[in-house]
Amino acid sequence: MCGIFGYLNYLVERDRRFILDTLTNGLSRLEYRGYDSAGLAADGDSAEETYIFKQMGKVAALKKLVNEQQVDFEKTFISHCGMAHTRWATHGQPSQLNSHPHRSDPNNEFTIVHNGIITNYKEIKTLLSKKGISFETDTDTECVAKLTKYVYETTKDQNLTFTALVKQVAKELEGSFAFIFKSVHFPNEVVATRRGSPLLVGVKTAKKLKVDFVDVEFGSAADNVTPTPAEASSTGFLSAEDGHPQLHRSQSRAFLSEDGMPQPIEFFLASDAAAIVEHTKRVLYLEDDDIAHIASGELHIHRLRRDEGASTTRSIQTLEIELAEIMKGSFDHFMQKEIYEQPESVVNTMRGRVNFEKHQVTLGGLRGYLQIMRRARRIVFIACGTSYHSCLATRGIFEELTEIPAQIELASDFLDRRTPIFRDDVCVFVSQSGETADTILAMRYCLERGALCVGITNTVGSSISRESHCGVHINAGPEIGVASTKAYTSQYIALVMMALQLSEDRLSMTERRNAIIDGLYRLPQQIKQVLNQDSNLQQLASVTLSKEKSLLLMGRGYQNATCLEGALKIKEISYMHSEGILAGELKHGPLALVDENMPVILIMTKDSLYPKVQSALQQVTARKGQPIIVCNDDDEDLLKNYKTISVPQNVDCLQGLVNIVPLQLLSYHLAVIQGVDVDFPRNLAKSVTVE
Ligand code: F6R
Repeated sequence: MCGIFGYLNYLVERDRRFILDTLTNGLSRLEYRGYDSAGLAADGDSAEETYIFKQMGKVAALKKLVNEQQVDFEKTFISHCGMAHTRWATHGQPSQLNSHPHRSDPNNEFTIVHNGIITNYKEIKTLLSKKGISFETDTDTECVAKLTKYVYETTKDQNLTFTALVKQVAKELEGSFAFIFKSVHFPNEVVATRRGSPLLVGVKTAKKLKVDFVDVEFGSAADNVTPTPAEASSTGFLSAEDGHPQLHRSQSRAFLSEDGMPQPIEFFLASDAAAIVEHTKRVLYLEDDDIAHIASGELHIHRLRRDEGASTTRSIQTLEIELAEIMKGSFDHFMQKEIYEQPESVVNTMRGRVNFEKHQVTLGGLRGYLQIMRRARRIVFIACGTSYHSCLATRGIFEELTEIPAQIELASDFLDRRTPIFRDDVCVFVSQSGETADTILAMRYCLERGALCVGITNTVGSSISRESHCGVHINAGPEIGVASTKAYTSQYIALVMMALQLSEDRLSMTERRNAIIDGLYRLPQQIKQVLNQDSNLQQLASVTLSKEKSLLLMGRGYQNATCLEGALKIKEISYMHSEGILAGELKHGPLALVDENMPVILIMTKDSLYPKVQSALQQVTARKGQPIIVCNDDDEDLLKNYKTISVPQNVDCLQGLVNIVPLQLLSYHLAVIQGVDVDFPRNLAKSVTVE
């Protein structure tokens, strides 16, 4: 949760207005990660002074506050470091005081922004309190700012560099974090580090960089000591005169231009590439326990500790997302845009992977692992929320096509139970963001036990895509709306494709596989057909459902997942109580809820379970229930006799991809009618990077 953003310019003249706008615009792109409050820290009139601005609520409120400040917006900086934060409150209520950046003291000697949770913050706080240090917020983060100042003061005689100082602090921390540190004692420098929470660095230069990687520096004792002014100036590249910042002794190869000279450069640090892509497409993903030091136009990567076998470079990669993909365009909300993108996003998930003529599926990322997977004793799917529902939706077809026992697990419960995992298990981790803490922890648990770990994610460079043995990127494009929609359909397809590929050696399944591949071909057009009914669904939401307190969704077989996912969408964005019920379980309890006043949506698209769902319909109508039925567009009987939502028919195991779309639209309209800020529902955040 929370989004962090940093901006540094070096030998690039920028005025204060530009810098503050860059910081707040960067935050706007990360707002989906939390929107309880926002704040930023920037240099004052010199780099030996830090201004902090914080505001409750969304980034727009912070922008307003910043614009009202009595500061010289025209003042220019040849070199400057700023950082910003948008908060999803975990420790301490949303309030201005609890907003980030947090500071070490009233003079803002050290300021930090943090995404994650420090689990041993109470111990640190107690220790510092005993030294007479007082605290002004309820957050876990503040103790890190105070600890940094404490370590700085108690090690003054050692002349530690900023990097060495942060290393000492990071060694004391438990939990998950991505941090940016700024200090008046280290003007024009920032240090950033991460463990468990995402952080990447964007690099923007006019000229080409010499190389496209950065060496990891494992460090000697001398590197921990700040050079004296005499030592520093002896390098001779640039003097500290003319207001130009000084260069360090060790020039990183990557940040010199091709002629070997330092060059004007800007750095962008962010929790997500969406905040960087409008500035530059060249990014470097930090790994756990990396300590990134940016100063004098260079980026240096250090390690918290020496680890055998660790990679010795970090590559500067090129982002593949486009700015247009993270803009709303003509839509009112990102969620609406993302629902409407599905005819295209499902094609993108299949592009280059499904050959519809030859009825073949090739997932390049799994190719080298198919034999291990086919020999597995079982496949365990592990995920949270909507991603979990995509596993539930595809378990049946997985079992049918591969005949490998499939188990599905909610990541938090899987960990709570310390579920037994063995070397011959295959564990599949499904996560849109690739950064969900529960799912990552479950993956590390399985890695430790020697299982093959497969990642299915939408985020290239995410922790899950980097740490798993192999996997599939679902290629749905950035999903910004907090309620997941297009990622669900793309995850669903990725899992079906995986089952198809795994079963390609089973001749007895050929006919079934071909029918599914033909069904995948029809899918984009069928989703478009459902989207064309949007105005009817809006009508249904406003006339029939908007005044209701509760809504039950019932179905069975493949449609059980559709009901659970539909109910989750409705509750998370419209705040209406909604429950997905397996229709076979109706008579074992939930039927007690049904009467003439209880709204029910029953999914009755045609498959082998249709007769059984008919009996659920009878159970509901016998209690005077008046269900709205999701049925196929040729089901004359239902269309004639009931209130219906009609959808085209596809193969049983793909029908859920069609059926979920009207439920997504219905939840969207219910939320709009309730006046909910659809892309930012209360108490939620897009990327849940805490346990
Ligand atoms: C609901 C929703 C959440 C996420 C869950 C897991 O609309 O988006 O339930 O599915 O938090 O997130 P990822 O898929 O990023 O691991």
